[in-house]
Parts: sequence; structure tokens; C-alpha cells
Amino acid sequence: MQQDIIFPSGTVSYFFQSSVRELLQLYAREHVVFVTDEHIASLHPYIFNERNVLLLPSGESSKSIENIAMLADRLLGMEATRRTVLIGVGGGVITDITGFLASVYMRGVRFGFVPTSLLAMVDAAIGGKNGVNLGLHKNILGTIRQPEFILYDTQLLQTLPEEEWSNGFAEIIKYACLFDTALFDELAANTLSYYMNNAVALDGVVQRCVGWKNKVVAEDEQEKSIRKLLNFGHTMAHAIENLYAIPHGKAVAIGMVVAVTISEDMGFIEHGISLKLKELLQRYKLPTDIRIDTGSVMEILKMDKKRNGDAIDYILLAKIGSPVIQSIPLMVIEKALSAYESNH
Ligand SMILES: NC(=O)c1ccc[n+]([C@@H]2O[C@H](COP(=O)([O-])OP(=O)(O)OC[C@H]3O[C@@H](n4cnc5c(N)ncnc54)[C@H](O)[C@@H]3O)[C@@H](O)[C@H]2O)c1
Ligand SMILES: [Zn+2]
Repeated sequence: MQQDIIFPSGTVSYFFQSSVRELLQLYAREHVVFVTDEHIASLHPYIFNERNVLLLPSGESSKSIENIAMLADRLLGMEATRRTVLIGVGGGVITDITGFLASVYMRGVRFGFVPTSLLAMVDAAIGGKNGVNLGLHKNILGTIRQPEFILYDTQLLQTLPEEEWSNGFAEIIKYACLFDTALFDELAANTLSYYMNNAVALDGVVQRCVGWKNKVVAEDEQEKSIRKLLNFGHTMAHAIENLYAIPHGKAVAIGMVVAVTISEDMGFIEHGISLKLKELLQRYKLPTDIRIDTGSVMEILKMDKKRNGDAIDYILLAKIGSPVIQSIPLMVIEKALSAYESNH
């Protein structure tokens, strides 16, 4: 099932309910270079047989500018030209690296994604943001450029570990909190194992999240207004993720709890919403608490892309399904974070 979505900077063909095997017939072998990680290459070797492949170790630490230079050098070694198509097959780490590399190699080559993690299917592969980290700072170097296609093959999820399913649900819960009370209720009535074992239900949730993200990005690709909402939970997530080596999904889960707690403290939201959110996160085996060193976290937070002088544009909730963007002074954030201080 093909669906073309038009964004200001380009049109993306979505191939839903597809098989990665179809892709192998779509592009001439000599022009394609796959980018993937060692986990995926060993679990799904047929995708890469007799193909040009750029292989990376799995994990967030691969998302570095050094690796971009190394991969560009390998592309030159393969005599990749502007006719080359880069295809990222993997989780959010691989889609970010592929999109960034394709955007800068020879000032831009064509690229597409086959997301293999739930998190990449509902979020990372979509929207054209492609970034890498600089030290502890998340996605500080990046581009906004749309892939040519995104192919969904949910069979690939059969090898995804349960913990990674949980991480994907953090972003799904994010969309539910921001836009979709019916989805929030549906998730609250089901469980992680229900979706892991029910392809139809999972497909429904994935397509709904893809729909939300596409709607927001089509309206505000350059993140001048409503796209900022998608950062719900991410201000804190980005500050703790690399500092404490927490997977992105888990960091977002904690970040959403912190955001809702700030909303409650500032009187934006009726008390009790944070409890509902924590219950839902726990249902999907996600963490809701963390011990931190406030000083170290604040150091990273100060470099947040949404900082504006002494304040950060923080995404809060007025209620489930009703987000607000509020400029929060760094001092207020620091006070809220003190509840998580490891010295307490
Ligand atoms: N660009 C964006 O808009 C955007 C949005 C959200 C997240 N992200 C980024 O995405 C990253 C997180 O993505 P992620 O959670 O997919 O991480 P990931 O790419 O590290 O994948 C998580 C783990 O699952 C493994 N894996 C992936 N697919 C598998 C499969 N089918 N079977 C078995 N193992 C599999 C990977 O090898 C890895 O070990 C973060 O770097 C985050 O910043 C980007
Ligand atoms: Zn995210």
C-alpha cells in the first residue's frame, strides 16, 4: 500500500504493509548503498547479500560526527557518486546517521529508510530531521531533509527485543498525551504483550502515530511553531540520555513525567494526571523516575536548542490531548529537578 505525503521540502512515498524483499527489486543494485548496524545485519542477512553495505556497531555511540567522516570516506572508496541512493535499514540511530550522511555527502544524495525498530517506525524515520551527537549533546549537528521513501515491514519486528518494544511505546504514549485521548485510553486498556502478539492492533497504532507526525511536520517542517510540540518529554530526555547512557525511549518516558510534574507544580494541569501517565508508562515497562546530579543535567540543558535567554520553551500539558508551550525559567526547571537529586 503506497501513500505519498507532501512536505514543503519534498514528497515521501510510504510503503505500508510491505516487505523489505520488494525493495530489493526497486533500485538498481549498482546505485544502492545500505547503511545498517551489526545486530540487524546478523539477524536479517538476506537483505544485504551481495550488496554494498556500510556497517556500524549498534548503539547510540555510533551517532557521532567522526563516524560521518569515516562513512563518507568509505563512500568515496566505493566510488559512490551523486547517483547513489543510501538506504538506512535499522533503528533511529541508523535512520539519523543515514539521513545526515545522505544530506551532506556531495551536497546531498537520494536516501530512503526501512525502519526496523518500533521507535523508528513511529517516530525517528519520519519528518526529515537527521542528526548526530557532539559529545554528550544530542542531535546538535543535523539537517532537515526528507527521505525519498519509508518502507514498513512489521515482520522485521519479530526479532526486536522486548525492551526495544517498550522504548517504542514511549514515543507512542507521547503522541497519545499530545493529541489523542482515544489512543491514550486504548493503550491504558491493553498491554505490551497484546501489541507484540497482535499484528492488526499494532498496525493500527503505528499508522495512527505516523499520521499524527506527518500532519504536524507537513504544517511546520522547519519547527517554527507546532512541530515544537513533538519535543514533549525531550528537553529532559536529551539532557539525561547520553549523560547516564539511558536508551532514548526510557529517557523520554522520564522526561514526560518531569514535564507533567512541572505542569502540575505551575498549576497548568489538575493534579493526578502525572499519576495516570506513570501508570500507563509502567504498563509498557517504562521507567518513571531517576536519580540525577542536578548540576550536570543543568549544564547540558543550558545548551538545549529550545533555550531562549534564561528560559527554555518547555512543552507542558494542560490536560491529556492538550499541549501548551510555556517559557520556563532555568531556575524553575532546576528547582523541579531537585526532587530527582541523587543526594536527597
Ligand atoms: N530524527 C528524529 O526525528 C528522531 C526521532 C526520535 C528518535 N530519534 C533518535 O532515534 C534513536 C533511538 O532509536 P531506536 O530506539 O530505534 O535506537 P537504535 O537504533 O539504537 O535501536 C535500538 C536497538 O535495537 C536494535 N534493533 C533495531 N531493530 C531491530 C530488529 N528488528 N531486531 C533486533 N534488534 C533490532 C538495534 O540494533 C539497537 O541495539 C535515538 O538516537 C534518537 O535520538 C530521532
Ligand atoms: Zn524521541
